[in-house]
Amino acid sequence: MFSYMSYMLTAVAALLVTCDALCKCPGIPGLFGIPGLPTRDGLKGQSHLSGLPGSLYTEVCNILDLKRRLSRLEGVLALNGKIIEVGEKILASNGKEVDFPSALESCEEAGGTLATPTNEEENKAVLGIVKQYNRYAYLGIKESETSGQFMYMNGIPLNYTKWHPHEPNGKGSEKCVEMYTDGTWNDRRCNLYRLTICEF
Ligand code: GLC
Ligand code: CA
Repeated sequence: MFSYMSYMLTAVAALLVTCDALCKCPGIPGLFGIPGLPTRDGLKGQSHLSGLPGSLYTEVCNILDLKRRLSRLEGVLALNGKIIEVGEKILASNGKEVDFPSALESCEEAGGTLATPTNEEENKAVLGIVKQYNRYAYLGIKESETSGQFMYMNGIPLNYTKWHPHEPNGKGSEKCVEMYTDGTWNDRRCNLYRLTICEF
C-alpha cells in the first residue's frame, strides 16, 4: 500500500513538473491558446508526455487553472485590504467587536479560527489589523486549568508569547488574551467586546 502510494505521488509530482514546462493548457499564458506557441496536439509525438492519457492531461491543466484563479482572487483581496497573507496563513477581520465565544464561533463558521500569532512576523500581521481598526482584539489563546499557563485552542502550550510587561497577571480570573494596539498581549476576561480577527 505504502509503495503504491509513493509510486503514485512520484508519478503525479513528475507529471506536474514536466507539465509546468511542456503541457499547454487552454487559457493559461505560456500554455495552450497563446498564438505562436505549440498546441498540445502539436506537441504530440515529440514530447515525452505524448503517452499520457488525455484525461490526466486535462486534470493537470484544471489544477493549474484553479491555482492561477485562486492566486488572482488572493491578489484582489490583498490589494483591497480585505486579507493579509503571512506565510501560509490568511488573516481577515469582519470589523465586529464581540465577546470571546462569539468571535471564535464566527471564525469557525467561516472555516477558520481566531488569529493566533505563533511568531513575530504573524504577531506584526495581526497588529496591522488591530491598528487598522484601532481596537483591541481577542487572540486564539486561552488559559489552562493551571492558572498562569496559556495554551492554543487545541491545548498545546504556547511556543511564542508577546506579553505586555507584568502580564499575565489575572491568576485564573482572566482566561482570554487580548492584543493591545502596540502588539503586546494582556490576559483579560472573556466577556468583553473585542475586535474579531480570524486566520485561515
Ligand atoms: C489593567 C491591568 C491588566 C488587567 C486589566 C483588567 O489594565 O494592567 O493586567 O487585565 O486591568 O481590568
Ligand atoms: Ca491582565
